Amino acid sequence: MITPSKSVKPEGSMSVMDAIYHRRAVRHYAPQTVDSGIIRALLDAAVHAPTALHEEPWAFAVIQDRNLLDRLSNGVIEAARREAQGPQSAHEKHLARLLSQPDSHVFHDAGTLIVIYAKFPGPFVVADCWLAAENLMLAACASGLGTCVIGSSVPTLNTPSWKAELKIPAAMTAVAPIIVGIPADETPPVSRKPPEILTWE
Ligand SMILES: Cc1cc2nc3c(=O)[nH]c(=O)nc-3n(C[C@H](O)[C@H](O)[C@H](O)COP(=O)(O)O)c2cc1C
Repeated sequence: MITPSKSVKPEGSMSVMDAIYHRRAVRHYAPQTVDSGIIRALLDAAVHAPTALHEEPWAFAVIQDRNLLDRLSNGVIEAARREAQGPQSAHEKHLARLLSQPDSHVFHDAGTLIVIYAKFPGPFVVADCWLAAENLMLAACASGLGTCVIGSSVPTLNTPSWKAELKIPAAMTAVAPIIVGIPADETPPVSRKPPEILTWE
């Protein structure tokens, strides 16, 4: 079991507020692979997220094999193209358009993909996995790394063939695929609308 005292504090940590405001969806990466010690520190940060009923319903896959990442990316693109043949929602059309560009790589050529899986179903299990995802992304940002959620890969990761290929038990569900790498350049911030406060009584 991992206790807070054993957890690894990433080097060059910034304040939580700095990490929140500096995190970006990074889509350009340097070719170097992130080393395993840093990946373990990020996973440790992830499992310190709040968890309903203390279920800790998450499990992780770390994929750094370039060939595997390329094949998975191709699988996602092929699935999107197949979907494009049928009736589509606006979201699916947008995705198919993005993925049909030549040389597109859904993982933006990042050297590491971390997938957070839900080990079992439950009312708050998906929420727990996303909380772990945000912890991981903020810890990565504090360590000078870039991340991006790759939601488009979820359906492909949940196919029986990809679960078998990655040795994921059939009962588990991919929830949050996150690429991690060394940013190749600065990513400008994307603006946010101000918080919409519905009531404050
Ligand atoms: C659930 C989810 C799914 C996402 N899927 C993708 C994706 O498939 N590909 C991608 O490049 N970015 C993806 N993103 C990143 C968003 O586009 C990005 O977070 C958003 O534009 C805001 O930019 P920021 O993260 O830099 O603030 C996803 C983000 C979330 C939260």
